[in-house]
Amino acid sequence: MAYRPVHKIPSSEITPKSVYLNRRSLMAGAGAAFAAGMLPGHAWAKLETKPSKYGADLKPTAEEYITSYNNFYEFGTGKADPSENAGSLTTSPWSVKVDGLVAKPGTLALEDIVPKVQEDRTYRHRCVEAWSMVIPWVGFQLSDLLTKVEPLGSAKYVAFETLVRPDEMPGQKGFFQPLDWPYVEGLRLDEAMHPLTILATGLYGEELPNQNGAPLRLVVPWKYGFKSIKSIVRITLTEKEPPTTWNKAASNEYGFYSNVNPNVDHPRWSQATERPIGGGLLSQRQPTLMFNGYEDEVASLYTGMDLKKYF
Ligand code: MTE
Repeated sequence: MAYRPVHKIPSSEITPKSVYLNRRSLMAGAGAAFAAGMLPGHAWAKLETKPSKYGADLKPTAEEYITSYNNFYEFGTGKADPSENAGSLTTSPWSVKVDGLVAKPGTLALEDIVPKVQEDRTYRHRCVEAWSMVIPWVGFQLSDLLTKVEPLGSAKYVAFETLVRPDEMPGQKGFFQPLDWPYVEGLRLDEAMHPLTILATGLYGEELPNQNGAPLRLVVPWKYGFKSIKSIVRITLTEKEPPTTWNKAASNEYGFYSNVNPNVDHPRWSQATERPIGGGLLSQRQPTLMFNGYEDEVASLYTGMDLKKYF
């Protein structure tokens, strides 16, 4: 199965404010006993962060859209499914297995991966379906983790894997499965080491809601959103280009690189423009930027490559 093109305004575009208010009033009204233990996922705890130079000029999309209009097929294929179903996911304790071509493989507890003080980084987020948001992430550079485990000279790629847990992920249950599980993604090692590439644990200064990929998800802002794999449990350094979920599902539509590129259309729709989410019903489409606006920082990674061939 492949992405469904967005032709009409989904209901989640019209209602998210009420969803948002609901969540807030639940928290405010229900009292402390309820708030700590019984709310789905994390209790939206504040994170310790420091400002960064990234995205100070961008205006973030309202939080209610970021947390209610999602793609996370493990919880269903509809945009509202993740926010409705992801509360059931247990995200603590959490560990990540780091293996493959590294000098220091091992299974690391989340607490040992995430720095005590993380960075605020506001990035553009461009889905291959031609919608976009601006998201104020909290996270740290993937390069920090990779450096710690010491990649061997033979390592050329980094592979990522999401959790498989059908009893908590309704999208993984049942006869009809839209994708192969686990969801897998990959980057070239130099892309993974790039300072823009982060592991995010939060947004808007608080812990990630489960629907956004708690407790740890990748963010690669110059690539289409599907590269930014959620709820990561394994990171493997490899010599060969690893398989990636959407490429396995439709290799003519989704390449390994998947750099945002307004000049290379999807076979079924144009990538020249995008629809900002949360701009209201009459909001204009806007031009899509080369490498999603990060051309100055990342173009040199692809010098000499034909980006139509390596899409
Ligand atoms: N990661 C997993 N494990 N499963 C998914 O279905 N969807 C991807 C990506 N990461 C997905 C995933 C897609 S298509 C997009 S656009 C982004 O997550 C959406 O991130 P957001 O919901 O935080 O905006």
